[in-house]
Amino acid sequence: MFQSRITGMGFYVPDNVVTNHDLTKIMDTSDEWIQERSGIQERRWVKPGSDDTSSVMGAKAARKAIEDAGLTKDDIDFIVFATLSPDYYFPGGGVQIQHLLGMPNIGALDVRNQCTGFIYSLTVADQFIKTGMYKNILVIGAEFHSNGLDKTTRGRQVAVLFGDGAGAVVLSRSDKEGHGILTANLHSQGEYAEQLAVTAPAMKKWVTELMANPDDLSYYPYMDGPLVFKHAINRFGESMEEAMQAVNITPEQVNLFIPHQANLRISQMVQRKFRFRDNQVFNNIQKYGNTTAATIPIALVEAREQGRIKEGDYVILSAFGGGFTWGSVILRW
Ligand code: ACO
Repeated sequence: MFQSRITGMGFYVPDNVVTNHDLTKIMDTSDEWIQERSGIQERRWVKPGSDDTSSVMGAKAARKAIEDAGLTKDDIDFIVFATLSPDYYFPGGGVQIQHLLGMPNIGALDVRNQCTGFIYSLTVADQFIKTGMYKNILVIGAEFHSNGLDKTTRGRQVAVLFGDGAGAVVLSRSDKEGHGILTANLHSQGEYAEQLAVTAPAMKKWVTELMANPDDLSYYPYMDGPLVFKHAINRFGESMEEAMQAVNITPEQVNLFIPHQANLRISQMVQRKFRFRDNQVFNNIQKYGNTTAATIPIALVEAREQGRIKEGDYVILSAFGGGFTWGSVILRW
């Protein structure tokens, strides 16, 4: 069996910074409320009129990851693209990225697992590499949330949390025993599918039905925040324990924990549960908000830039989100 390891990383966020103070001009909210509940200070939102979408931003991040790996687009065998904010109902954005990057006719797979999208995608790519089917896989998470949020007081519970951006890694075949992806676990609980969802338009309720009922706002994201919060804390803990047991390491031995950036309070509660020291945890939600499938690859790049990941380190990635879905990956760098 082959090993897989991350050989290149890159991210892209739009230039347009939207601070909490900016949001107070368009809805009834406050910097204090947002920071106290979520830790977020600012996020990036695509400027109206810009060409950026989830596939365009995904392609920008992917170019950087390919260059960082010292490869060219022709070395990539396959694309796995995670997003909950695709450009089209169909086809998925993976094929658009393949085209934007001018790649040969390689396969492109779309993953629809929301905040856990990057963990699912990395795990799928890992399996393709471990079986020997592919050598270099582009794994991308990108979101263009800002065009689909209810940016009024009515939508404030959700709108203040989400940001736009993209992150990508190249996962490559490696013969370095004991390094790369050591374990992964993936979970779901569909009984809560509607507690964090955009339920229309879709085949169950098409655009014509929405147009006939202007009070129907189901095209905006709905989230039962407190319910999601409660489940997130438990599921992060369970999944990380499962991963650490699989690799036979203790929380003490973890060099860096990169949680999906949904809420700083969730990260801090998980940190306390495992008694991680501050230097064992990486957070950047303060600057970007929740970029869903993109949070973990963006954080990976910034953690490396800040010298927080070194050769031989145990890095644990974990996420929870819509579906509900959750999962963790442990890598040895
Ligand atoms: N500004 C000011 N007040 C607000 C805002 C806002 N932006 N949003 C809500 N409020 C008000 C509410 O109206 C409510 O007022 P009331 O008590 O008068 O009714 C009060 O603040 C408390 O609202 P709650 O929703 O109970 O606030 P809570 O403390 O639970 O925080 C939050 C909300 C931040 C959303 C939290 O529940 C959370 O982070 N949940 C988890 C999010 C998450 O992890 N999502 C998963 C990933 S997302 C994905 O997969 C797509």
